[in-house]
Amino acid sequence: MAILIDGKAWAAHDRAQTAAAAAKLADSGVKAGLAVVLIGEHPASMSYVRGKDRAAAEVGIHAEVIRLPSSTTQTALLGLIRELNGDERFHGILVQLPLPAHINERSVIEAIAPRKDVDGFHPVNVGALALGMPGMVPCTPLGVMRLFEYEHIALEGKHAVVIGRSQIVGKPLAQLLLAANATVTVCHSRTTDLALLTRQADILIAAIGKPRFVTGDMVRPGSVVIDVGINRIDGKLCGDVDFASVAPTASHITPVPGGVGPMTIAALLSNTVKGASAHA
Ligand code: GUN
Repeated sequence: MAILIDGKAWAAHDRAQTAAAAAKLADSGVKAGLAVVLIGEHPASMSYVRGKDRAAAEVGIHAEVIRLPSSTTQTALLGLIRELNGDERFHGILVQLPLPAHINERSVIEAIAPRKDVDGFHPVNVGALALGMPGMVPCTPLGVMRLFEYEHIALEGKHAVVIGRSQIVGKPLAQLLLAANATVTVCHSRTTDLALLTRQADILIAAIGKPRFVTGDMVRPGSVVIDVGINRIDGKLCGDVDFASVAPTASHITPVPGGVGPMTIAALLSNTVKGASAHA
């Protein structure tokens, strides 16, 4: 039976470090601040934003949630972002995605000042990651890398297989794994014979958004399995990994809930304090 990677516990550990850094900053006169912009009433987004707001307050970050109706125009949203860029109380700006269809996501992301882009979605930060330069790293990939670090899972020379090529998870995670000297394969919906590749993985990361997609027959015994998926079946949370068939033979596995999810929020808080530290 696999060792369960307790993301909830590691996230608490991570938040404690962030809280200490935030307290130190506060002593030097800088209160770290995060502005979260939520447009409309997407139920999952509302729940994520509540979680982010609560977690920020717990580590001593001043968080403000700005809630706007789904009828908000792109011009109004861009105006708000310009204001937040110039507002020294906020070191991080997060616009919760997805946005209503009439708003162009790209132009919104590009309006955020790169140093305040705690999601790491701005082209400047995407480019910095690709080049191995300092910048804001997207929260979920950063949280996954911290789980490897905390669990002492070595990456150098290992074959990491990432399923999913999203801008938010798959692509940036592949780059972080490469930077850590893993050999990286990125699979996606058009990959031919996916199971042939996943069975070669020392480290398998599922980030596709399909419930229980990765089954035991796709996983080599002894591999480390990281489940980034957050899906709902009949209101119940489940990951992209079929835990029941994979856990018996894997060496390590993250549960859903309580795996990667809490680390994503911890990484957001850490990015916010990092943004604030650049001001101290
Ligand atoms: N919606 C789902 N995941 C994310 C995320 O990481 N950042 C933002 N801004 N919105 C999201």
